[in-house]
Amino acid sequence: MKRTKIIDLLATQPGGEVCAKGWVRSHRGSKNVDFIALNDGSTIKNIQVVADPARFDEELLKLITTGACISVEGQLVESVGSGQAVEIQATKIEVLGTCGADYPMQKKGQTFEYMRQHAHMRLRTNTFGAVMRIRHNMAMAIHTYFHEHGFFYFHTPLITASDCEGAGNMFQVTTKNLYDLQKDEEGKIIYDDDFFGEQTSLTVSGQLEGELGATALGAIYTFGPTFRAENSNTPRHLAEFWMIEPEVAFLDQEELMDLEEDFIKYCVRWALDHCQDDLEFLNKMIDKTLIERLQGVLKEEFVRLPYTEGINILQEAIKNGKKFEFPCNWGDDLASEHERYLVEEHFKKPVIMTDYPRAFKSFYMKQNTPVDAANPDGASVGYRGAVAPGPTMQGTDVLFPAIGEIIGGSVREADYDKLMSEIERRQMDQTHLWWYIDTRRWGSCPHAGFGLGFERLILFVTGMQNIRDVIPFPRTPKSAAF
Ligand code: 4AD
Ligand code: MG
Repeated sequence: MKRTKIIDLLATQPGGEVCAKGWVRSHRGSKNVDFIALNDGSTIKNIQVVADPARFDEELLKLITTGACISVEGQLVESVGSGQAVEIQATKIEVLGTCGADYPMQKKGQTFEYMRQHAHMRLRTNTFGAVMRIRHNMAMAIHTYFHEHGFFYFHTPLITASDCEGAGNMFQVTTKNLYDLQKDEEGKIIYDDDFFGEQTSLTVSGQLEGELGATALGAIYTFGPTFRAENSNTPRHLAEFWMIEPEVAFLDQEELMDLEEDFIKYCVRWALDHCQDDLEFLNKMIDKTLIERLQGVLKEEFVRLPYTEGINILQEAIKNGKKFEFPCNWGDDLASEHERYLVEEHFKKPVIMTDYPRAFKSFYMKQNTPVDAANPDGASVGYRGAVAPGPTMQGTDVLFPAIGEIIGGSVREADYDKLMSEIERRQMDQTHLWWYIDTRRWGSCPHAGFGLGFERLILFVTGMQNIRDVIPFPRTPKSAAF
């Protein structure tokens, strides 16, 4: 008999023979009746299987333990019990895969740390099922959004010879024999005979190539794996994560912020519209304020805040007794505690922060005009005419409640001379950037874009606390299992 998915069975009118296959969530037996809760991953909901023990072999019923995989045939009938409209009155049960008492997901209420050690089996739990279905839905939301808005899905390389963010935390890619490395007189490794004939790494961002796409196709987005060898063991960082990077020609700072806000609200709305059952489960089990927080984001207009004003607010808070672990004077990169203070306590809504100091932002960002043309390292004029005490760039990051930075974006420096002077000021190696610089030589155009950390979005939408729990098989320092 043909199997029907449980999600479809639960939406079917009672009457008629059906077949369901899945994994046993629980099995309660008594003298007169056995109840089996069966789940096949198509939905968070189980279908209840009712079996008359008189009709089945006792040995067979004993094999129907938590975690076992079974096939059930029977009549789909109206359910007398509460909680479900229909159930299966079993006529035939087959055990496809038995499951012993050593099954690691046997017990309910295991810690997330325990489940990480059993990441190969945790996917079968309710929580991870819900998270993975939401993850899929968010990917669909993202592709749909960009497709509907005329962006082209653009594939950028994973292996690269350039370091987009310039942070130097890249994983090397080589076919060299590491036991027998040849070095030159200066002690530098010779890469001439390596696979690509030069030193290469896994990409930290597809942006630079994305800009090549945008300045030809008008609007593109990437959606792919991204690798960062930052040794940050935090609940917000992975060594391998997925990033979505739209890049758009002729977009200015205000329009970039409009795009960031519209896009992320679309994703959150999609979750509320398409993932109701899973969200209700997570709202009940993981975070009682989850759905309220998602709805809140849709209602609020995001605050658009120059960095300099943000620093003033933080300084004011410190004066009034607020304690932070890290300093936040003008020029400091904000820590997640600062971002979360602004979003969760001060404004109580998402913030798009803009006009960051040049010192800790990337070379490619559009430079704000100095107040005094003769002093480019002095005060600068930024968003809506606000003056900052030092040189700033048009970076526009989106800060979210419970997460901190969820999007990092910027208007790009389109002026050849300004870009070159910044590259030189930073003493960057230009050998691997010539093709990027060419975009500013031939038909340069104003453009802007951003990167959304996919797992940070999933963290927000699921209410999960740790980024290791929103990707099937996390890669973090000292951990590449599964
Ligand atoms: O702010 P980032 O570093 O920006 C870029 O890479 C730009 N090239 C994007 C662009 O303008 N096209 O990273 C973008 C986002 C962050 O806001 C964060 O959400 C996520 O990527 N992210 C990480 N997520 C998980 N683990 C990590 N180690 C991450 N590093 C960044
Ligand atoms: Mg960033």
